[in-house]
Amino acid sequence: MTDARLASLRAAAPALRLLTDPADLAHYGRDWTRRWTPAPLAIAQPASVEQVQAIVRWANAEGVALVPSGGRTGLSGGAVAASGELVVSLERMNQVLGFDPVDRTLTVQAGIPLQLAQEAARAQGLQYPVDFAARGSCTIGGTISTNAGGIRVVRYGNTRDWIAGLKVVVASGEVLELGRALVKNSSGYDLRHLMIGAEGTLGIVVEATLRLTDPPPPTRVMLLALPGFDALMQVFSAFRHRLPLQAFEFFTDVALRHVLAHGAQAPFDTVHPFYVVTEFAADEASEAAALAAFEQCLAQGLASDGVIAGSQAQAAQLWRLREGITESLAKYLPYKNDVSVRVAAMPAFLAEAQALLAREYPQFEVVWFGHIGDGNLHINILKPEAAAQAEFVADCERVTRLLAELLQRHGGSISAEHGIGLVKKPYLWCTRSAAEIAAMRGIKAALDPKGIMNPGKLLD
Ligand code: MLT
Ligand code: ZN
Repeated sequence: MTDARLASLRAAAPALRLLTDPADLAHYGRDWTRRWTPAPLAIAQPASVEQVQAIVRWANAEGVALVPSGGRTGLSGGAVAASGELVVSLERMNQVLGFDPVDRTLTVQAGIPLQLAQEAARAQGLQYPVDFAARGSCTIGGTISTNAGGIRVVRYGNTRDWIAGLKVVVASGEVLELGRALVKNSSGYDLRHLMIGAEGTLGIVVEATLRLTDPPPPTRVMLLALPGFDALMQVFSAFRHRLPLQAFEFFTDVALRHVLAHGAQAPFDTVHPFYVVTEFAADEASEAAALAAFEQCLAQGLASDGVIAGSQAQAAQLWRLREGITESLAKYLPYKNDVSVRVAAMPAFLAEAQALLAREYPQFEVVWFGHIGDGNLHINILKPEAAAQAEFVADCERVTRLLAELLQRHGGSISAEHGIGLVKKPYLWCTRSAAEIAAMRGIKAALDPKGIMNPGKLLD
């Protein structure tokens, strides 16, 4: 059965590269969640839009499920292939296709790593400002499919804000050209935005036109030590009131301990419960405003220490304390919550969330960090070595249900930036109403009537 289907795919796309080696199936069938056992039918590595179209037409005719695949750095199981799907890896479609200096746009194939797109923008004297720690291995297509956020959202917004145009292969095999890089276009439904964050459930993104902007000014990086959770949002207000921020990230001492154990350097002689890393323009006005904000926080007991990087190397060291967290926790197979509320709702939500998790997780180590300036918290629960993964996950899912109820009351989201995938599908109701979910199902049915596009992710 399997061979016959692959033989018909080979006949439909004779030049298509297909991998069926068990090591490849294992490699391309998983993302960073490591929770599902990869079991794809095969891996297709198209080299052109026409090959993607041929794959999709074949899949639609044969009723084979497709899993679009970028760098598989996702944290929600969106790129997992555990049920005999054909993985469509965009890895070979990784080129810069063009730069337009008038529109200030860069057109790329979807499989290009984020970092290479950033570098291509820089080579033109501009920047593509979406940025986060997985920049070297995630792909533009993956960042579009999850509407990725990251460490500069407080200044530049999410991926959605930077996509001028998209080329998407939908289940019929047709190519939709969406947005066309027009600045103004009031011509009905903007299908481009439907595809952003759709996690490959509506089509396969094959090309993107990225909006670029002026390069960032030289920046200063500052690390603050805070005495408690309550201080966090007050420190944010004190800084944001006084100066434009490029980043405002927080982490706890527990997170810091893991990063230090992974080789980073301790920033202070003493231990503090919370830390903030913030970045701002290295000009006189911003530096004076940041110092004034810091002094105000010290005087009010909201900050207990602080350091400003004096060189690029020191700035990189401070950033490593924040950006190294995910990697330092990976060996604990953490259960990840990635939640958001409006920034204004954060103090009240934080107080309740803290009390809830302290009560429900007495037995597990809980690591808090994230993009607090965007109202986005990452809560990683670490699996004790001796615990069986299934029982650990079941325990975490019980608590996530309670967290989802809390989020619903505070008008928040169960996924700020990682996507829903398989991991958060059971909790979509806390962020989306029944009517919204019904509309989403209707859109899915209209664009993908046979349900071949990443089925089981986001929606059932
Ligand atoms: C990060 O911001 O470092 C990641 O999105 C969070 C995570 O690994 O949970
Ligand atoms: Zn994040």
